[in-house]
Amino acid sequence: MLSIEENAKLSEVGRGTAMGELMRRYWIPFRLSSDLPEPDGDPVKVTLLGESLVAYRETSGKVCLIQRHCAHRWSDLFYGRNEEGGLRCTYHGWKYDGSGRCIDMPTETEDSSYKDKIRITAYPVEESGGVLWTYMGPPEFASEMPRFEYLNVPEDHRHVSWNWQENNFAQAIEGGIDSAHSNFLHATLDQYHRTEKWVEEGRRTQNLRDLYHARDQHPKFFSEDTDYGVMTGARRDTGEGQHYWRFNLFLMPFYTMPPSAKTLKFFHAFVPIDDVNVQRWTFTWSLDAPLRGDQVQEWRKGSGLHAALEPGPDHIPLRRLANDYLIDRGTQRTRNFTGITGTGEQDFSVQEGMGPLTPRHKEHLGTTDVGIIKMRRRLLRDATALEDGDAPRSAADGGVYHLRSGDILLESSAHWMDDARVREIMTATW
Ligand code: FES
Ligand SMILES: [Fe+2]
Repeated sequence: MLSIEENAKLSEVGRGTAMGELMRRYWIPFRLSSDLPEPDGDPVKVTLLGESLVAYRETSGKVCLIQRHCAHRWSDLFYGRNEEGGLRCTYHGWKYDGSGRCIDMPTETEDSSYKDKIRITAYPVEESGGVLWTYMGPPEFASEMPRFEYLNVPEDHRHVSWNWQENNFAQAIEGGIDSAHSNFLHATLDQYHRTEKWVEEGRRTQNLRDLYHARDQHPKFFSEDTDYGVMTGARRDTGEGQHYWRFNLFLMPFYTMPPSAKTLKFFHAFVPIDDVNVQRWTFTWSLDAPLRGDQVQEWRKGSGLHAALEPGPDHIPLRRLANDYLIDRGTQRTRNFTGITGTGEQDFSVQEGMGPLTPRHKEHLGTTDVGIIKMRRRLLRDATALEDGDAPRSAADGGVYHLRSGDILLESSAHWMDDARVREIMTATW
């Protein structure tokens, strides 16, 4: 439970708010490279941390991100002409380059230096891993790009997507690190009877999750602060003198990395559009082989954790709040808990179902929520520290993001965080 004031501090991301200033110390993924496919192509509206911006790919191929409104009389530059090295306002023709300088002002005489005094907000853009990233903080504190393993694997080993989600970013992060919900939200109705089948399957595949996940329905949760954020371990008793551990990571300031298969990894980013909307990113990468074409095709159509999307620039999910996620009550009665198709969409239904900003002063947290409590405390603590002049260390060292999540079997006596084998499965090599 958080007080109303703490909840506001956790959730509000506009310029000048504690959390908003913290977020602005990190590089932020904001669009796919393919959202802006060609030089001098169509500009795209972008809202990030409550700021109205427009992105365009200029003649040289570089992507620029500038404020949406023209300095002259506030016309919308989204309607601007993307032409030869800049974006020109259609109202009176003022033209801006990617650094926010006004480079042409046809309304003034040629000898006027007025244009040299005009500067609009512009943010630097990096293109990496098929994703456009920006940094919106004070230039003198520019952080390091997070060195995710995803960004280093060959192009055919990775896939990324994003979708619009209608709720505050923090409740989406909570869903991302909540290991307790998959037995319900993402489960089929016969799951408890399937334990034996899973174990059988596990013997064949040696997949730890299949072998041990269902044996203990009451995992114990442990959570610790780390240099990148918060690590949560879910411990299940195997009944054979060992513990089955699954690790779930929260990485500052909005990433989650759940345990995944041995060679196919993923993480999410929950990037605040404003206080009540979020971009939900899903980054998937393969450690051992190029991704199969048919698999990527399926993801593009919306499967696994990638959501099915309506066509259009805003990546609106096909199954969304406005159409009740196309819930099928018959399926809910007979086949799965939700009656909703898609793991991502099932997540949206509970996260958006809380309302745009969940009232955390009304909740009743239980033993499975230790990681969520720790994550909130970490964000609030780092935001307060920054208010006091103490910058977050994870922003200065992109190397802390160079890791994986996973699961492991340990003797009951082993300590989960200190064990060398745990560190080994979390070590990224690309
Ligand atoms: S409002 Fe943009 S040039 Fe006048
Ligand atoms: Fe989920």
